[in-house]
Amino acid sequence: KEKPQWKDFLHIDDFDKAEIMKILDWAAEVKALLKSGERGYLPFKGKSMAMIFAKPSMRTRVSFETGFFLLGGHAIYLGPHDIQMGKREETRDVARVLSRYNNVIMARVFAHQHILDLAKYASVPVINGLTDYNHPCQIMADALTMIEHVGQLEGTKVVYVGDGNNIVHSWLLLASIVPFHFVCACPKGFEPDQKTVDKAQRAGISKIEITNDPKEAVCGADVVYLDVWASMGQKEEAAHRRQVFQGFQVDEQLMKLGGPRAYFMHYLPAERGVEVTDAVIEAPNSIVFAQAENRMHAQNAIILHSVGL
Ligand code: CP
Ligand code: NVA
Repeated sequence: KEKPQWKDFLHIDDFDKAEIMKILDWAAEVKALLKSGERGYLPFKGKSMAMIFAKPSMRTRVSFETGFFLLGGHAIYLGPHDIQMGKREETRDVARVLSRYNNVIMARVFAHQHILDLAKYASVPVINGLTDYNHPCQIMADALTMIEHVGQLEGTKVVYVGDGNNIVHSWLLLASIVPFHFVCACPKGFEPDQKTVDKAQRAGISKIEITNDPKEAVCGADVVYLDVWASMGQKEEAAHRRQVFQGFQVDEQLMKLGGPRAYFMHYLPAERGVEVTDAVIEAPNSIVFAQAENRMHAQNAIILHSVGL
């Protein structure tokens, strides 16, 4: 990278606990500033950010674009048909061209290798806006939301119910640097990547459990956390997954088993009536919209950290 303090944001565990907590503190500070109506803090003035989207998005696009604008910068949306990374143009060329115009590159791609290649060849920081492997910006927003509602992240019990996917990998990578209790309850055959589970367990920081029993898993949870059953790129498997994931829908009964203090979280978009019932998402202990809002605040802090401001 052009300057030594410039950092990519690709995986949570590329950072140590102090750095992650510093970014979260920063997110809370900038959030308070923006909520106060203050518009004079413009650290991104004169800066631009290219945003590559190979997949659909609402939250990631709008939160990055609005957040960057509110802090003085200009963000450019590049949709699935604009770049066609790997098809119309090689990733290494995309990285070098965009680095000539922009101060930051944010990308949402399919193959994780694409984000690694972008980061390798870009001369500006690259931020991971989701790959098939992980979604670190989402988990930073979730951590901020937990700090605000539960009071802290350390020592809490987070129970994820559903597919052992990119969201789970990000939780596992966070658990490998910050101590909490993470449980993933998923159907047999839909467990998270074993290497990532091993890595988190080997780190010896958090209690990690992978189970096939959602009822037992949710007991004593601080947070019951959900994702869709069929991720982007798996939509043709949706019908089959609906069969296999029977028993993993989070309804009021399952939330009751969680206990009175359990918050409900879902990164959204949710498929109501599939992985979660309408009543659970609309319940007073559901903090899904706070979670969505915090995408913007967490990412503002991530970009500040990445560009060394
Ligand atoms: N949570 C999330 O990443 O939402 P989008 O897919 O709408 O960006
Ligand atoms: N697991 C989901 C997360 C979307 C934000 C997906 O990859 O589609």
